[in-house]
Amino acid sequence: MNIFRLDDKITLVTGAGSGIGKAIATLFAEAGAFVGVIDRDGSAAEATTQSILASGGRSTSYTVDVADSEACLELAETIQESFGSIDILVNNAGIGHVGTLLETEGEDLDAMYAVNVRGVFNMTKAVLPDMIGAGQGNIINLASIGGVVAVRDRLAYCTTKFAVVGFTKCIALDHASEGIRCNCICPGRVETPFVKARLQEYPDPEKAYREMASTQALGRMAQPEEIAAAALYLASETSAFITGTPFLIDGGWSAGK
Ligand SMILES: NC(=O)c1ccc[n+]([C@@H]2O[C@H](COP(=O)([O-])OP(=O)(O)OC[C@H]3O[C@@H](n4cnc5c(N)ncnc54)[C@H](O)[C@@H]3O)[C@@H](O)[C@H]2O)c1
Repeated sequence: MNIFRLDDKITLVTGAGSGIGKAIATLFAEAGAFVGVIDRDGSAAEATTQSILASGGRSTSYTVDVADSEACLELAETIQESFGSIDILVNNAGIGHVGTLLETEGEDLDAMYAVNVRGVFNMTKAVLPDMIGAGQGNIINLASIGGVVAVRDRLAYCTTKFAVVGFTKCIALDHASEGIRCNCICPGRVETPFVKARLQEYPDPEKAYREMASTQALGRMAQPEEIAAAALYLASETSAFITGTPFLIDGGWSAGK
């Protein structure tokens, strides 16, 4: 078994211009993969690709909004024509929202759904037929601890992340016999630009930081690289018997109070 190696694998990571996606793209390249770095922020995607190339890795960046189904299809075709079958897709791109139901408008939920659920659907639909044709494929979705337990004041976010966990299990069940594995990662709080932006929505960001860190039994937030390590495990043959799993990396958040 080629433990924790992705040599010659064609991988795509969405939302790889920042945070967890950037850490995953960087680690996959170190493990020997070609990495298609996808982000709606083209300059952020290109910066990740340049950093991978500077370290001797292989990567190309693509500016794509995963909420746009046509753009996802075109992207998959372009990559398949240039590099061949896509082996591993990481659906990492996601956005956040703070609020209870009373503080959430229908438009807020639609905007969250378009990226966090429809984006995962769009990219998976774009690559799955080719994976099935190749007789193998591996899909990893970034859900959240908010896709497993309720998080206070995160009605829209949790609703979309519970959907990602359900989507993951359905893909795993429907396509296991065709050589496809599908898992999702459920992180607790990770110190990324995503979380730093959320903190600024609080009247006292420093107090909010301490409170957010304390929801984890370990009393701290994760670093993006700790989530990337789990993505590498799920992407590699090391995890060959794992599919349909919400993989919790939550610092003990869900262990109890
Ligand atoms: N940071 C956390 O604490 C945490 C915890 C649990 C789950 N997650 C999940 O992990 C994923 C990554 O989070 P992060 O903290 O690294 O976020 P981030 O904001 O640092 O990075 C997200 C990246 O996704 C890109 N993106 C957003 N919408 C997009 C779209 N429609 N199309 C293409 N690219 C798009 C952004 O431009 C950005 O580069 C998200 O799905 C998030 O919900 C994060």
